[in-house]
Amino acid sequence: MIPIARPILGEEELAAVKEVLGSGMLAQGPKVKAFEAAFARDVGRRHGIAVANGTAALHIALLAHGIGAGAEVLIPPLTFFATASTLLLCGAMPAFVDVDRNAYNMDPAKVAASISRKTAAIMPVHLYGQTAETEPILEVAKERGIPVIEDAAQAHGAEYHGKKAGNLGDTACFSFYATKNMTTGEGGMILTDNDEIAEKARLLRDHGQVSKYQHVLVGFNYRMTEIAAAIGLVQLKKLDGWVKQRRANALALTNGLDGIEGLVPPAEGNWMVHSYYQYIVRREDSFPLSRDEIVRRLNEDGIGCRPSYPMPLYRQKALRNLRIRGRCSVAEDVVPRLFELPVHPSVGPENVDDIVEAVERTARPT
Ligand SMILES: Cc1ncc(COP(=O)(O)O)c(C=O)c1O
Repeated sequence: MIPIARPILGEEELAAVKEVLGSGMLAQGPKVKAFEAAFARDVGRRHGIAVANGTAALHIALLAHGIGAGAEVLIPPLTFFATASTLLLCGAMPAFVDVDRNAYNMDPAKVAASISRKTAAIMPVHLYGQTAETEPILEVAKERGIPVIEDAAQAHGAEYHGKKAGNLGDTACFSFYATKNMTTGEGGMILTDNDEIAEKARLLRDHGQVSKYQHVLVGFNYRMTEIAAAIGLVQLKKLDGWVKQRRANALALTNGLDGIEGLVPPAEGNWMVHSYYQYIVRREDSFPLSRDEIVRRLNEDGIGCRPSYPMPLYRQKALRNLRIRGRCSVAEDVVPRLFELPVHPSVGPENVDDIVEAVERTARPT
């Protein structure tokens, strides 16, 4: 079986973890500080605030931006649950802006019309490793005087107009979950250039403590461990190489799949460097098999293939009765057509050939 994702962890990570275990310092300490500085420098930001996971990063970033009861934040409906759930955890509401049919990211042309008196921020998601078309979103946000918070959980190593994902809006949030382009097992990071947002985020992550047992606000224990940070420092050094490998795999997959009638490989936007967290194929009506049948046959053939998200987020049971604004016809049409193929750095040329041949077989059902 060629798995859909596989974290790459080796001797260097093992040595880094051993060093931490030997140091006797397990919770947030010097490794976390070093990881924050290294990750922020890599993306080009002044501040990095490491946290326990990407969901915690979003939760804290939103609170640091003052998002709370009565506020609405614009998000796309095609994303992971945490993009919406963290808004609700702040007492705010999501409002959905439809996606572009080819990029699968928030459609910038639909942002201005979605803004209401309650809109307190825009949170584009850089989905599958490709940045949202951020410039026009930033323009609208600037006109209206509202911040842009990037959900960059899937976009380590992606670029837009020469800038890294995470260095485009006011504040950005990353996840280092096990399947991500780089991992700490579980982990997250907030990046910003804004001193006040950074300070508030640091406090919120650690019970609002300015010093031992001195609490100036009510926060959380969202701290990262030294073990996670030590792994992150090693992984960060390898990120560029892994993104290159993902991009080479994606190019080979696209060359192989090109010309199969009814299957559309991922599109890479102008001025973007797609970091291929996921390689997403769209099934059009001219293809002889349903999306689910393609997935079933590829799995039978040893290819770790799966559908992407099952529904636009507002249809999730936890959200559907909340009277959330924004029904999205493009997302409704596109979501049931998408499936993922393996693109991670451990996929080699032979695997690519196997994947392409297996997909070709689904195009000739018997
Ligand atoms: C787009 C998006 N946002 C937020 C998250 C939440 O990150 P985590 O799983 O680290 O809490 C994820 C995670 O997988 C994600 O893909």
